[in-house]
Amino acid sequence: MFIAANWKMNLNKKSIKSFVEHLKIYKFSKNVQLCIFPPTIYIDFLSKLIKNIPISIGGQNCHHQSFGAFTGEISAISLKEFGCDYVILGHSERRIYNKETNEYIKKCAQFGIKSSLRPIICVGENLDQRENGKAIDFIEKQITDCLPEDFNELTIAYEPIWSIGTGKIPLQSEIREMHKNIKDIVFSKSKKNVKVLYGGSVNEQNIQEILSINNVDGVLVGGASLKIKDFLAIYGSAVKHLKNYNI
Ligand code: 13P
Repeated sequence: MFIAANWKMNLNKKSIKSFVEHLKIYKFSKNVQLCIFPPTIYIDFLSKLIKNIPISIGGQNCHHQSFGAFTGEISAISLKEFGCDYVILGHSERRIYNKETNEYIKKCAQFGIKSSLRPIICVGENLDQRENGKAIDFIEKQITDCLPEDFNELTIAYEPIWSIGTGKIPLQSEIREMHKNIKDIVFSKSKKNVKVLYGGSVNEQNIQEILSINNVDGVLVGGASLKIKDFLAIYGSAVKHLKNYNI
């Protein structure tokens, strides 16, 4: 079980320090893995603070070249050097605001893998596609076009755009169908298994319901990962869920 916290462009030194103070005294379970994706500029700061806490750290994006004249970009090699294990790629906010395409995301994923990072590739339909019955086909194309040529380990985050920051989540049956479909598509193309996280308005109230859905291997949390109380409540629910199901 994997709980990922995407802090996006939020928090500062003071709030990160106070967040970590609470983590220091928390008893973590070996069965639920945690990873925080802070703003790039705070990766080193956070990484030093959580040195003795069993939490991984990741970047919110990376470029597809090692180094060079790419102003404002972040190299996968630099992420690795500063202690990152994971990188989020193709988040809908980057697809929308930074015009990232599937082809671009695929190149970044390939370079991330080459640099020993574990990519989490985000996919998700908009409301119009969901309402017009086009979600499954749209996600199939996103995955087919973003899938790295070669990988040992891959995670896909299914984040419907209409669910991000809105408090709305898909029906259980819609999440179940999409996650199963994502696993089938990846397996049919690569003969490899993939983990699929759900993301979009995950909170303390809905986490148990989401985790009880087949083929949900964890969650990618935005807003509710910014407050320590909410974040630990989500984590605690995930631990409880595994205990209830004896997983
Ligand atoms: P919210 O949890 O705020 O809806 O954001 C989800 C997300 O975009 C995580 O990457």
